Amino acid sequence: MKTNIISKKLKKARTLIILPVAAAMMGAWFAAVSAAPIVRPLNNETVPDVNELGILDQSGPNAGQWPKITNTDKKRDLKQLDKGLFWDMQVGGDGIQSCASCHFHAGADHRKTNQMSPGVKAGDAGHSSFLPLPNGTLTLTQYTTAVNVNGNEIGFPVDEAALIIAGAAADAPNGTPSAASPVVKLDNAVDGNDVVSSQGVRLGTFASLTELPGGLFGHVDTATLAASDNEGFNFTFSANAPGIPDTVRRVEPRNSPTVLNAIFNFRNFWDGRADPFFNGVNPLGFRDPDARVKVYLNGQLGEEHLTIPFSSAASQAVGPVLSRFEMHWDPRSFADVGKKLSTAQPLAGQLVSCSDSLLGGLTDCATPGTTNRGLTVTYGDMIKSIFDERF
Ligand code: HEC
Repeated sequence: MKTNIISKKLKKARTLIILPVAAAMMGAWFAAVSAAPIVRPLNNETVPDVNELGILDQSGPNAGQWPKITNTDKKRDLKQLDKGLFWDMQVGGDGIQSCASCHFHAGADHRKTNQMSPGVKAGDAGHSSFLPLPNGTLTLTQYTTAVNVNGNEIGFPVDEAALIIAGAAADAPNGTPSAASPVVKLDNAVDGNDVVSSQGVRLGTFASLTELPGGLFGHVDTATLAASDNEGFNFTFSANAPGIPDTVRRVEPRNSPTVLNAIFNFRNFWDGRADPFFNGVNPLGFRDPDARVKVYLNGQLGEEHLTIPFSSAASQAVGPVLSRFEMHWDPRSFADVGKKLSTAQPLAGQLVSCSDSLLGGLTDCATPGTTNRGLTVTYGDMIKSIFDERF
């Protein structure tokens, strides 16, 4: 009985906070990919039923009112929604960044240019490796050719361990290069706290959602791009182009790990901040006691507290969408994202294989094996087909 109440409550909350939880369910997809002994099409994989896991507080009105998802079609629909969201460039504030942008290659990122962060976690906003370009393009040659310092082949320039082997002293914990290091100081060729990571969006200020004209459904984010970026993402090459901000895309200060198997991590992110308990709002779990999800009950909008255990992948998935490094411009809110996506055609600008095991059936393709842009439904349609009809 308790399980039922928990499950129903969770179902209700999932329905009502639609986007964050749908994003959270991407974790199920990661598991589906990874749990099988061989890689099979996603439509053959089962989605773990997070309804079975919920320990929600049961104080809200109509607790336990909603049935859990048992219908196989709904589970398939949920996987389709998850896959669409993970790959969809429209999730990004700039209409380009998707989760997959940074997790494309075996769940990680193998892009090579404009992937250097100057070490912002250490308060460093400049690159010494590639001066005079503040965020110099990292070339394939720089990746594959060992850097020669004092006659030693030391490997990639941001590899501090290799530098130390080559005779350098370690940087101070706050990132300050060691003055005692003859290697680092010799030609300033190396910057030990630079990080090779993933490019996200340029720095900007979100203005509003603008409805797409000409019968297209959906909205785009509009923003004012910053003319300069004091966290190290300025770019001298564009300085002479009138009207073009002097910035490049921001780069995450930590490397992108693979998303495959992420659902099995008790915590996610390098520092483990994606909490095992999902609060429905952000990665912080219990650590944000103010986290509340919006609920619509009896004709009224209210708020409710969620605590879903074993859901670190869910806690993680609500982070990037509102990250000003990864996918958006402040101060965009989840309400803005929800408004934008609910009327959007999933993957509207992207090619979808007509043979895609999950999404092929939602394309406008006559011939399997070809491709077509977008799906024939809207996210709103998908959400309605999965979640309780009163929403
Ligand atoms: C701009 C690039 C970028 C985008 C876009 C992005 N990520 Fe990530 N992702 C990262 C980086 C960087 C980390 C590591 C961050 C950290 O540990 O602080 C990460 C970490 C993760 C992890 C944790 C894996 C682990 O082993 O700890 C998962 C899961 C993940 N991302 C999924 C997603 C999902 C889902 C989305 C879309 C909602 C997304 N990412 C969007 C760059 C990105």
